[in-house]
Amino acid sequence: MFKYYTMMVDYMLSTQKNDLIPEKWYNVVPDLPEQLPPPLDNEKNKSSIELLNSILPREVLKQEFTFQRFLKIPDEVREIYEQTGRPTPLVRARGLEKYLDYSGKILYKYEGATITGSHKINTAVPQAIYAANEGVEKVVTETGAGQWGTATSVAASFAGIKAKVFMVRISYQQKPLRKKIMQLYGGEVSPSPSDETEFGRSMLKQNPDHPGSLGIGIGEAVEYALDHNLRYLVGSVFNSVLTHQSIIGLETEKQLEIMGTEPDVLIGCVGGGSNFGGFSFPLMKKFKDVEVIASTAAEVPKFTKGEYKYDYVDTARILPSVKMFSLGADFMPEKIYAGGLRYHGAAPSLSMLVNTGRIKTVDENQESVIDALKIFSRTQGIVAAPESGHAIATAIDYIRRHKDEKKTVVVNVSGHGLLDMSIFRDEQ
Ligand SMILES: Cc1ncc(COP(=O)(O)O)c(C=O)c1O
Repeated sequence: MFKYYTMMVDYMLSTQKNDLIPEKWYNVVPDLPEQLPPPLDNEKNKSSIELLNSILPREVLKQEFTFQRFLKIPDEVREIYEQTGRPTPLVRARGLEKYLDYSGKILYKYEGATITGSHKINTAVPQAIYAANEGVEKVVTETGAGQWGTATSVAASFAGIKAKVFMVRISYQQKPLRKKIMQLYGGEVSPSPSDETEFGRSMLKQNPDHPGSLGIGIGEAVEYALDHNLRYLVGSVFNSVLTHQSIIGLETEKQLEIMGTEPDVLIGCVGGGSNFGGFSFPLMKKFKDVEVIASTAAEVPKFTKGEYKYDYVDTARILPSVKMFSLGADFMPEKIYAGGLRYHGAAPSLSMLVNTGRIKTVDENQESVIDALKIFSRTQGIVAAPESGHAIATAIDYIRRHKDEKKTVVVNVSGHGLLDMSIFRDEQ
């Protein structure tokens, strides 16, 4: 009898958990206030749009240009989502509320609870599955700080294929543990520039100790994909990636409903815009008047100092150009801890909504980010990623300025920072 009872409880718990994982992703494109300007070809030797045709998994390419509002999540992807820790928790930040003496509510969606410790796995999984279903045996990508390469490596393993990751050489040298994790997951990691591609060799010829860059990494990954007939996985900026990341906002919507709460303010951090778009777009659809704030690094002030224009997606100028807020593809930010926020532009859909004023933006400097990370770890017990620290800093600042308004502020904490502890090197 007891055994039967525990089996029933297990069953109920598993279906409830599973029910929180949506069956469809949300694509914001048909709901944008204007038509999304199309990508532009950068004709060099080869059309860059045609290039996408040859290197992206076909399904990803289809999703990139679709006007369909909801896209079915394949069953096998949903099953893997469950294995990766989804649904991730939506937590009432009571410790932080107490610390700030706030009588409203602070909630955070915690993407650090996934197996790789960030939201990047949400798009790596479907992309790897689509690639595997098309019969390729290996996917290839680049990584800077390592979060994306880690997600790609494990997603490829889940899909039963291999992953090749070109890791920016300076990170490869400075972050040996990141490299190890990727290898543990079965990823094949090469420091970029490498001698495995024409492009890499030409860079090494100029400088044998070249530190590398994301642009060079992309150049190598794309060349490698073309030469070996592999599929290339994309970590951010693309519409399809934001669509996959909508799992964050869709889950949050259901969790808020269960809590009986509606959000007044949404806050997230922006690198290329994938965790921010994925979190906020579904909630903006449901809660029309919600205030939305994108937090960026003050060292990479794309929204406040950048221009809304067509620009190159990558420094190597291989991929098509898109209309976005950009500091220019050659923009070289200072070295900051939040490696994932160094990107010069932001996803076209997000850029449009910033341009129309629907989404507000705030630049956060390193000092306030370190402060926010310390406060969050002491009040909530979570060492958040330096990238997510920007969102937390913006939330803390917002609450301090609106103390008496009793709002419900929901923050997306995109990852944990347990492998990025060097940010605290000089802290007491
Ligand atoms: C933890 C974390 N948060 C945020 C970002 C920024 O990327 P995106 O703007 O695409 O979410 C990154 C990128 O590497 C990251 O690793």
